[in-house]
Amino acid sequence: MAIPFFFLYLLLLLLLLLSVLSSPFSSAAPSDTLSEGSSLSIENTNDVLISQSGIFSAGFFPVGDNAYCFTIWFTEPFCDNNCSVIWMANRDQPVNGKKSKLSLLHSGNLLLIDAGRSTVWATNTASQFSIKLHLHDNGNLLLYEKQGGRVLWQSFDYPTDTLLPQQPLTKDMQLVSSRSRRNYSSGFYKLYFDSDNVLRLRYDSPETSSIYWPNTWLLTWDGGRSTFNSTRIAFFDSLGNFTSSDDFTFTSPDYGMRVQRILKIDYDGNLRLYSRENVRNRWIVSWQAMSQPCRIHGICGPNSMCNYVPSSGRRCSCLPGFKAKDYSDWSLGCEPELNRSCSRDVISYLKLSNVEFFGYEYGFFPNYTMQMCEDLCSKMCNCKGFQLRFSRRYYPSNIPYCYPKKALLNGQYSPHFDGDIYLKVPKTSGLSSSYRHVEDSVLDCSVKNVAQLNRTYSKSHQNGTLKSVMWFACGVGVVEFFSIVLVWYFLIRNQNNLGAANQEMEHQRLVIQMREKMKKEAVDSVIEMIIDPKLEGKYDRAKMEILVMVALNCVNEDREARPSMKQVVEMLLHQQESP
Ligand SMILES: *[C@@H]1O[C@H](CO)[C@@H](O)[C@H](O)[C@H]1NC(C)=O
Ligand SMILES: *[C@@H]1O[C@H](CO)[C@@H](O)[C@H](O)[C@H]1NC(C)=O
Ligand SMILES: *[C@@H]1O[C@H](CO)[C@@H](O)[C@H](O)[C@H]1NC(C)=O
Ligand SMILES: *[C@@H]1O[C@H](CO)[C@@H](O)[C@H](O)[C@H]1NC(C)=O
Ligand SMILES: *[C@@H]1O[C@H](CO)[C@@H](O)[C@H](O)[C@H]1NC(C)=O
Ligand SMILES: *[C@@H]1O[C@H](CO)[C@@H](O)[C@H](O)[C@H]1NC(C)=O
Ligand SMILES: *[C@@H]1O[C@H](CO)[C@@H](O)[C@H](O)[C@H]1NC(C)=O
Repeated sequence: MAIPFFFLYLLLLLLLLLSVLSSPFSSAAPSDTLSEGSSLSIENTNDVLISQSGIFSAGFFPVGDNAYCFTIWFTEPFCDNNCSVIWMANRDQPVNGKKSKLSLLHSGNLLLIDAGRSTVWATNTASQFSIKLHLHDNGNLLLYEKQGGRVLWQSFDYPTDTLLPQQPLTKDMQLVSSRSRRNYSSGFYKLYFDSDNVLRLRYDSPETSSIYWPNTWLLTWDGGRSTFNSTRIAFFDSLGNFTSSDDFTFTSPDYGMRVQRILKIDYDGNLRLYSRENVRNRWIVSWQAMSQPCRIHGICGPNSMCNYVPSSGRRCSCLPGFKAKDYSDWSLGCEPELNRSCSRDVISYLKLSNVEFFGYEYGFFPNYTMQMCEDLCSKMCNCKGFQLRFSRRYYPSNIPYCYPKKALLNGQYSPHFDGDIYLKVPKTSGLSSSYRHVEDSVLDCSVKNVAQLNRTYSKSHQNGTLKSVMWFACGVGVVEFFSIVLVWYFLIRNQNNLGAANQEMEHQRLVIQMREKMKKEAVDSVIEMIIDPKLEGKYDRAKMEILVMVALNCVNEDREARPSMKQVVEMLLHQQESP
């Protein structure tokens, strides 16, 4: 009995041994180290460094069509084609998918070579000793001497847009955001230590540069920051505690949990601490620097205005008289639709309430009335408008403050902002007369959306009398509409001019077509065709059917066949009574 089992056991062992020997990994096991004189080739998909416990990988990562960057990314728990990139060597100069390689030279230099020809990136290191490149389990890629272990270069010293636990951000480093969600090249947002030792976020586009965190209008002291510690170091630990030498600290709400974390400056300019939710393999935001995303500079570009609605997110819109340069890239902002003139008698001002534009002022003029401020702006040809507000920190709050604007940047609508902007517009544009509309629509939709209402009302609680009043109003509206149509139709019929006759024929054709359709197809489909899709099917089909029939009868070619006004009213009343 026992003997066959013994043989089976032996057979299994043999099979196991064979499978291990023939496994492809036995010859090229993934390694966390690259030794001197060897290289990683872009054409060999196995040429990837994997850290000891498999959390991080370093290799060529696709960033576009036949464009690759040498990258470190999270491998664990898994990543299919949505890996979290934490570092890139050549984000602004991707390499070709053929003949590119990362080579560790005997001289001690580490080179990234594009298509076998040019060097696009190098560590510029040198050593007389034997060296190796090693991907550590904390995500750091180190180049060090085998004897003594002196570190020549490490990726932690050259962060991209992400910090890992215990990775310090120091004096000469900065985190730079990506250009967009899918474009990894350098964007416009930076986290860095300023010359006054304060950790800051800055927007840095080719045209403008401004700091938006911590709030510049708050003195550094108010923000709890110190300018006197010139150590300039910031980092967070693996439990979720962030500290910076300027006294800025925060702890993650999930502090103490052993989860993967990253601190990243996102392409939208916000600095966020993410924790990995291991169950669903998702990064969740556990802290962010800016709770009001419209306060991030450069988001909507010049001459536009940002509006944040918690339910639907951030929205950019052009100021009246401007049009978007590129709807797919709001950071470019808007440009004027109309020619601007400097002559004082052809300009007027358009008021936008609760709209704030940050910075770019000719100056700050306390106790200037609206008229004085307007005169001041009118005198300056390049003045784009002025901001008027009634309070300012540390100043009396019962006098107006005037800020004439050189440029309209960092605009945001905020219902709590206690000031208005007055835009300079050409008198002939008609904008000054339509400004009430503009102002109202801005106020309307935002106020409605910003207030967080409980949306649990029930539909069945409709008021009966209200409903019948509604139907009556609708009936009256329909009757009125048909009277107008009839009068108009009558007028057209009595005109002998050819154009009108053509038009009439067109209308008749439409009516006939409609009637044919009603005969041939299901009434439902016809109704569906003409009903405003905004109703989303929320209407009474039977009633709608009667309305359509009445409408078609009213435009009958045969005058005698048309119902009288009395009949129309009767039909409508009848359908209202019917259940
Ligand atoms: C990423 O953005 C930069 C700058 O706008 C642009 O030059 C580059 O072509 C973009 N890359 C991709 C892959 O779209
Ligand atoms: C990729 O990951 C990001 C961040 O974790 C997530 O927001 C996005 O939806 C993912 N995309 C896909 C296609 O899974
Ligand atoms: C966070 O770290 C700082 C300094 O490293 C320390 O003073 C502080 O107590 C820590 N906070 C928590 C909650 O552990
Ligand atoms: C400056 O900051 C560093 C790092 O946070 C800290 O170790 C050091 O004690 C601080 N120095 C002073 C004078 O506060
Ligand atoms: C603006 O001015 C230019 C030349 O000064 C002219 O060609 C153009 O038609 C003007 N545009 C409008 C909208 O008035
Ligand atoms: C503001 O100006 C008015 C007149 O222009 C003057 O009477 C008033 O005293 C001024 N207020 C302050 C606080 O300067
Ligand atoms: C909203 O609903 C929550 C729970 O459903 C309730 O506690 C809260 O009081 C409601 N708020 C308002 C303004 O009705």
